[in-house]
Amino acid sequence: MKKVTINTLMAWKKEGRKFASVTAYDASFAKLFEQQEIPLLVVGDSLGMVLQGKNNTLSVSLEEMAYHTRSVRAGSPNCLLIADMPFMTCATPEQACNNAVELMKAGANMVKIEAGCWLAPTITMLVQRAVPVCVHLGLTPQSVNIFGGFKVQGRSDEQAEKIVQDALALEMAGAQIILLECVPKALAARITDTVRVPVIGIGAGNATDGQVLVMHDLFGISTNYIPSFSKNYLSKTGDLRQAISLYIKEVETGEFPSHEQTFN
Ligand code: KIV
Repeated sequence: MKKVTINTLMAWKKEGRKFASVTAYDASFAKLFEQQEIPLLVVGDSLGMVLQGKNNTLSVSLEEMAYHTRSVRAGSPNCLLIADMPFMTCATPEQACNNAVELMKAGANMVKIEAGCWLAPTITMLVQRAVPVCVHLGLTPQSVNIFGGFKVQGRSDEQAEKIVQDALALEMAGAQIILLECVPKALAARITDTVRVPVIGIGAGNATDGQVLVMHDLFGISTNYIPSFSKNYLSKTGDLRQAISLYIKEVETGEFPSHEQTFN
């Protein structure tokens, strides 16, 4: 696979070409994903749930994120690699800079921050210091105790407007990718049309520029539960490689997510 950069994704957005991405946590799966030409891998703090069996992501440490980022980079030299900043690692701009450095040194091309517009100065500070940022909006799992559970966000007009304003402010602050989790399709479509940067959705309908799934959900092997917005491609194909390539194809054609995997 040719090296994928943020410029590749920006060009695809302009062309209207959709792209698939997936989480990865180790070198072997990262290699498999790269062989199937998945352009973007996310080392998500979902590893707290799918690798460690916890109920949420709050206990994942920066050291664990750096360890898994190094492993994924070893297996996939060419994908665009995004690594999650875990809970409370961006409490101040200085902390965010010191912590992001560890993930960049581990091989990430970009860090992902569960954000709101209050983080705009932090994002500018990171970007000015050569750390590219993806902002995660909508259902931000690190805020599970604020939301009172893993709930769809942006259903009311007021909530939806807040997410749109956050997206605009954070793009202005320098964010280069926006990830939207568990929001209604119409809201995701509005944000995708409004911002210039690529928008990646998970549980956000098929109007976004890209899609991401947690790999354990894609293969139907998660320890907790398989979310309704996901699809078990392994049971459909019976083979890991075919599962990945069917997922890529269905994202590129807009078949996935279908109506039944979408919040309306
Ligand atoms: O932690 C994670 O796996 C995520 C996904 C939505 C990419 O944030």
